[in-house]
This record gives sequence, C-alpha cells and structure tokens, in this order.
Amino acid sequence: MASDEYSLTVGADGPILLQDHYLIEQMAQFNRERIPERQPHAKGSGAFGHFEVTGDVSAWTKAKVFQPGTTTDTAARFSTVAGERGSPDTWRDPRGFALKFYTSEGNYDMVGNNTPVFFVRDPMKFQHFIRSQKRRADSGLRDHDMQWDFWTLSPESSHQVTWLMGDRGIPKSYRHMNGYSSHTYLWVNEAGERFWVKYHFHTDQGIEFLTQGEADTLAGEDADVHRRDLFDAIDGGDHPSWTMKVQVMPFEEAATYRFNPFDLTKVWPHGDYPLHEVGKLTLTRNPNDFHTEIEQAAFEPNNLVPGIGPSPDKMLLARLFSYADAHRHRLGVNYKQIPVNQPVVPVHSYSKDGAMRVQKVADPVYAPNSYGGPSADGERYPHKEVWSASGEFVHAAYTPREDDNDVVQANALINEVMDDAARDRLVDNIAGHLSDGVSDKVLQRAFDYWRAIDKTIGDRVAEAVNGG
Ligand code: NDP
Ligand code: HEM
Repeated sequence: MASDEYSLTVGADGPILLQDHYLIEQMAQFNRERIPERQPHAKGSGAFGHFEVTGDVSAWTKAKVFQPGTTTDTAARFSTVAGERGSPDTWRDPRGFALKFYTSEGNYDMVGNNTPVFFVRDPMKFQHFIRSQKRRADSGLRDHDMQWDFWTLSPESSHQVTWLMGDRGIPKSYRHMNGYSSHTYLWVNEAGERFWVKYHFHTDQGIEFLTQGEADTLAGEDADVHRRDLFDAIDGGDHPSWTMKVQVMPFEEAATYRFNPFDLTKVWPHGDYPLHEVGKLTLTRNPNDFHTEIEQAAFEPNNLVPGIGPSPDKMLLARLFSYADAHRHRLGVNYKQIPVNQPVVPVHSYSKDGAMRVQKVADPVYAPNSYGGPSADGERYPHKEVWSASGEFVHAAYTPREDDNDVVQANALINEVMDDAARDRLVDNIAGHLSDGVSDKVLQRAFDYWRAIDKTIGDRVAEAVNGG
C-alpha cells in the first residue's frame, strides 16, 4: 500500500475515497478483533512443553501417553475462574490447570483445577454457582453477598470454600500451585481390567501463596503478575515442572468405599489410596502469538484416548458436553482445525464443511460405505465404564455413605492439615470477605455454615466480624 499513515483523499483536504480499501480494512478488521471470552476461566496464561513418563503405570492403563519411555508434547493453560479477560491475577479464586497432550493416539485433555475438589456435585448448580461469583445484574458489580448467599444455601460447598479461604486460595504464581484432575477417571489396561484414578500434579517449585494483603496490593500494581511470572521464568530458561502422580482404586472397591468416590466435593484420603508417580510435565516454550496459541486453545474433557475413560461423576459427564459446545460458540464449529487444537496424528472423521473449514474432506462422506472410508473400532475404543442405566427417571438428592457428610473433609482440612497460624489466616480471610457488603441475613447463615464445619472457627469468624 502507498501509505500507512494517510488516507486517500480527493486533494489534501478533500473527502476520503471508498476505493481506499486499506483504510476500510483497518477499520473493519479492528471491529472484529475480539472473540467472546471463555464464560468461566476467561483470564489465563499458557505455555508449551512436554510430558515425560518416569514411572510405570502400565498395569493400570494402556494409554500410550502414560507408557514407560514416552514423551509427549503438551500445551498448558492456567487461569482464574470468575474474573474477566483483563481481571487481576491475584483475586481469591480457584485456578484452572488445563493440559492438552498431543499423543500418538490423538489429543488427550486433562482439564483440572489447582484444587482437588469443587463447590457443587451436580451440574444443574454449576451455572448458578458461576453467576453468583461474577457480577450483579443491576450494578454490574461483584458482590460478596451473592457469593455467600449461594455458598450458605449449598452446604456441599463447605470443603471447597474452606480450601479457597485457606492459604492455597491465592497462589504466589501459577508455577507455585498444584494441579488436580479433581474428578475420578477410569483407566483400562491391556488386559481390559478397570481401575478408578485421580490425578495429582505436584509443583516442583514448591507450594507458595500470597496473603490477602499482598494479593490486594499486587492486584493494583500489576494485574498480570502471574502471566508475567510464567512468561519471564520460561523466557529466562527457568522451566517450571510438575510431577504427576495418581491414586488408584480397584474397580470393585468403588461400590463399598466409605466415601462416594465419584463425589466431586470429596478427596480420597492419601491414607486410603497412596500416590504413584507417573511422570513429569515441563514447560519450555512461551506462546509467540497469544491469540492463536492461548486464546484459541480449546480444552475439552471429552478428548480421551484408549485406556482412559470417564467415571460416573455427574459433573464430569456434564462437562463432556459443555466444553465442545462452548468452543463451537466461542471459536466456531471447526475449532479443531485451529493449529493449537490439531492432533499430531491424522484425524479420520465424517465432520464436513461449516464455517472456516480449511482442511479438505475426502469421499466417501457417509457411513456405512463400501469405498474404504474410516470406520469405528469398538475393540480399540470400548465403553468400559459401567453404571446402572435402569430405573425410574429421578432428580435424586445425593445419598451420603457411611463416613460421609458435607463437612467432614472440610473439618479435616482445618484440624488435621492446617496449623495454628494457617487457622488464624483462615479466620482473617473469611472475616475480611464477609465484612465486605454481605447482608445481615446472609451473614447469620455464614456464621452457622462455619459453625457446622467447625464450631470454634465459626465462633471466631462471628466474633471477628461483629464482636460475637
Ligand atoms: P493428608 O495429611 O495425607 O493430606 C493432606 C494434604 O493437604 C496434603 O498432602 C496437601 O496436599 C494438602 N494441603 C496442605 N495444606 C493445605 C492447605 N492449606 N489447603 C489445602 N490443602 C492443603 O490427609 P488426607 O489425604 O487424609 O486429607 C486430609 C484433608 O487434606 C482432606 O480433607 C483435604 O481437605 C485435604 N487434601 C487432601 C488431598 C487428597 O487428595 N487426599 C489433596 C489436597 C488436600 P498435596 O499433597 O496435594 O499438596
Ligand atoms: C472452562 C463449563 C466444571 C475446569 C470452562 C468453560 C466452560 C466450562 C463452558 C469455558 C470453555 C471455553 O470457552 O473454552 C463447566 C461445567 C462444569 C465445569 C458445565 C460442571 C458441570 C469444572 C471443573 C473443573 C473445571 C470441576 C476442574 C476440575 C475448567 C478449566 C477451564 C474451564 C481449567 C479453562 C480451560 C482453558 O484453560 O481453556 N468450564 N466447567 N471446570 N473449566 Fe469448567
């Protein structure tokens, strides 16, 4: 083009010409730069690296990505949940921990969080939960009253809320936090034997956290502090890593274990199911185009590979639908053809056409056919999960097992894991949060919520908020 600075006009002061399509392109392209942000987890940062298997879990899964000697390219995206795309990295919130393994059997996505549990156990409540953490309809403001209103009316949230109000509720950086599958998954070995597993990615940098005061200061000083930390560390050759471990439950034990092993508000205590090392995730490369590599990355729990399947966790089953649906909305129906989302192995499917399809489709375009088109392989991709699909249609409330109630593990976290100093910070964090715009009605329920988790903590919170 003739100029990057001056529009084409009729004479120096004359009207702009429609034929200046370069100017028109500047305006038109600019108006279309934004794509919808992710509904939850809008603010995030990512990097690339590899996953190297260091243990031997072949007795439990045949998935190629976890076989001894295998190294797999991996994409990672870490995120906050409730904040928007430009929101501060240090708001108190769980952090997303999403991985895409580009395996020799297609993409395997592990879309977890930095916490081993979640606020709700039924997907019917997920959307309501997220709305309660975002912004009000009237003022457009975030609102602690809305958050506590939802939490105190949802006692199953107690474990995750205790976790969130504790030290790990604001990590020092993305490098200094763990990742968890949170959900239970199914593993199937070569012999077809089945196991239930939970993944733990332990940070090799060590767990470090920010106090509320430090986080508040940083939110004002540098809203992107965690993005900057991750980028600068990798840029400087300080490659962060995580050691992946699994807890393994024999298939039959799920029926009789003292907790429902598919309840997302519970962990499997380490004493019952110890950790086994699988391998190491190391991040070595930063994005060089944030939009195409990180913003357009589409993680989806339904990206599974042979040897790994879902469990009957209702939340997980809902997620198997929700993410691909979100991607079709956010990125378009052919989002899998965006390079960051493409598997490294050929894809055989009958998906055809649609907006922004750029890969060619070959005939035949239907199945069954007698022209050599791809065909499904029930041997390779067996549906090995079993749970009863018989019975009445019900909207069933959760049925607790023997040792199970909504507060037992939250109580264990407070009394068996935290020390006195951590308990003091917990009370301060809760009281601080509750002292910011929470109505009296909800406040009284919040005191009862904490007293039900732990009487002493509840009394201390009430005293800290209003003197008793
Ligand atoms: P353990 O004593 O074996 O495990 C306690 C675990 O708590 C630690 O291993 C660590 O997890 C984690 N932890 C330490 N400090 C904090 C904190 N401030 N906030 C959140 N987590 C912390 O006991 P159990 O396995 O019997 O679990 C007891 C309680 O510990 C549970 O009720 C749960 O709240 C919490 N927990 C348990 C996990 C599990 O998978 N069993 C995982 C994380 C927390 P890590 O080693 O993963 O860093
Ligand atoms: C992002 C839905 C529970 C982890 C998202 C997105 C949706 C969604 C729609 C945005 C996806 C996108 O636009 O790219 C749901 C539903 C849930 C649920 C319906 C429950 C019923 C969970 C749980 C975890 C989790 C339990 C962790 C264990 C994540 C992560 C992201 C995300 C890490 C961001 C992924 C990325 O970095 O792109 N979720 N979610 N979600 N969710 Fe969930």
